[in-house]
Amino acid sequence: MYQSLININSVCISVKMRLSAVLLFCAASLTLAGGVSVRSLLFSSESASNFVTVQPQKPLDLSAFTLCLRLATELKMEQREIILFAYRTKYYDELNLWRELDGRIGLYLSGDGVFFQMPPLGSLQTHLCITWDSLTGATSVFMDGKKSLTKIYQKRHNVRSGGQIIIGQDPDEYLGGFDANQSFVGEISDINLWSNVLPDTVIKAMADNGNTVQTGDVIDWSVANLEVTGQVNVVNRDM
Ligand SMILES: *[C@@H]1O[C@H](CO)[C@@H](O)[C@H](O)[C@H]1NC(C)=O
Repeated sequence: MYQSLININSVCISVKMRLSAVLLFCAASLTLAGGVSVRSLLFSSESASNFVTVQPQKPLDLSAFTLCLRLATELKMEQREIILFAYRTKYYDELNLWRELDGRIGLYLSGDGVFFQMPPLGSLQTHLCITWDSLTGATSVFMDGKKSLTKIYQKRHNVRSGGQIIIGQDPDEYLGGFDANQSFVGEISDINLWSNVLPDTVIKAMADNGNTVQTGDVIDWSVANLEVTGQVNVVNRDM
């Protein structure tokens, strides 16, 4: 992607026209060149052994967050639960995101969860975000930029550092105790985590226009170190 931009720029420079025309040509080319490339994880089969650990940019010591990702799955509702994101310390599911058996989106910050009735996830890519703020407990889900109602959950709680981020499996211990019947099957990408609640308009812009890929301060998907265990394909996706 950066390579192609450079090529376009050199074409721009070599075109001998009046300056204004050159600028117009270059601007149009850059628009057509499209957006950024992000890594995408393909989980093609159900397993209790395929997963990816994600190394965050800083510890998950959080009194607020925005977690966003893009996903598609062909697993049908009412078939089973699916883990979407797991962050576990030794004894607690610190920040776990699920699609529940009945299709609701479930968030667990240690202990019982909070659930959101949303349109079903499916085989077309969905941009999914969840925001939480300890001060008020305000928790909301965004699906393709559209916001759910707000629920009050885990007021004055804190997400603790020292855990492991896992994509593809739900760990029932620090890194293990996986159940194939909860594993993620499908494609998941652009997983970013911020230590604050992003404005609605920023989340909507991200969903509407993949070109403006924003990256989190806690998980920055453009640089986060990923470690694959088992059969997970990492491909590049041009947004
Ligand atoms: C998988 O999970 C669903 C509910 O989440 C359950 O109904 C089903 O029996 C489970 N299947 C197996 C093989 O454990």
